[in-house]
Amino acid sequence: MSAPAPAREPLGVVGAGRLGAVLGAAWRAAGHPITAVSVRSAAARDRAALLLPGVPVVADPADVVRAAGIVLLAVPDDALPSVARTLAAPARPGQVFVHPSGASGLAVLAPLATAGAARVALHPAMTFTGTPADLPRLAGCPVAVTADEAVGSLAERLVSDLGGRPVRLAEEQRVAYHAALCHAANHLVTLVAQAQDVLAATGIEDPSVLLRPLLEAVLANTLRLGDQALTGPVSRGDTGTVRGHLAALDAIDGEVGRTYRDLAAATARRAGRMGRITAEQVAELTELVLRR
Ligand SMILES: NC(=O)c1ccc[n+]([C@@H]2O[C@H](COP(=O)([O-])OP(=O)(O)OC[C@H]3O[C@@H](n4cnc5c(N)ncnc54)[C@H](OP(=O)(O)O)[C@@H]3O)[C@@H](O)[C@H]2O)c1
Repeated sequence: MSAPAPAREPLGVVGAGRLGAVLGAAWRAAGHPITAVSVRSAAARDRAALLLPGVPVVADPADVVRAAGIVLLAVPDDALPSVARTLAAPARPGQVFVHPSGASGLAVLAPLATAGAARVALHPAMTFTGTPADLPRLAGCPVAVTADEAVGSLAERLVSDLGGRPVRLAEEQRVAYHAALCHAANHLVTLVAQAQDVLAATGIEDPSVLLRPLLEAVLANTLRLGDQALTGPVSRGDTGTVRGHLAALDAIDGEVGRTYRDLAAATARRAGRMGRITAEQVAELTELVLRR
């Protein structure tokens, strides 16, 4: 029989969405009693039943605030300012409000600080779908933490209780931090999907099967070596090959051609900075791809 989890501070969850229900379940497994969860839609009610069975479900987020010392505000980014303003009324000194938004810091919770509460912004650098399959992804997950000084160590322990790895982040760096994650994770989806479309247009039956070994190797190399992982025609200054690519891509899908041009220009400049191609080759490639 496994040992019972140690007693932890009670927590309430506003918003049983994709992330809120999962964080609530992980904190509960670490010994935090979940005193209440607020839901509005049927989907959120189902998610709460699945991930937080037996936790009191309420309609009014203010009831979550009344029932817990630590309150997670897991609502969409755009709803955070109005939720923070509304919940300043039931908030009391000594409470701690936590939000998991990446781009926002503590400023968005200012009305709650005015009410005497402390603030934590705690962003797991991971994607969540709101199912139990998300729970193991928290193990070792980096979590960007910005917190009022008085609750800095509590914030780090909340991350450890999730199984995550706290990474301190200054308030003024959060937008750039979040932009970097989105640039890599979201735009990678667009890039790979574009390549899949072009391969499909060439008649290849399963583009993912063809791409998988190459992309897995490139991702592993890039995470290890950064720019040094670069191979391909731009890294060799093979302007003729790039010219051929542009003609082929433009014929299949103009938008893919434009994306290729922008990325090839950035790639050429980075290849030039690390000395893989000469300044003349950078200029020649840039002129070719940016010529409209
Ligand atoms: N999902 C991820 O991969 C992920 C990763 C890192 C960080 N985050 C952050 O986590 C936060 C929540 O994202 P999510 O993906 O979980 O969104 P989501 O699935 O859309 O869930 C948001 C929840 O907030 C509730 N809600 C919306 N407006 C509300 C309001 N005015 N008052 C009370 N509840 C309200 C919704 O309730 P109903 O459904 O009942 O209407 C919904 O359950 C965001 O700040 C996001 O940036 C998400």
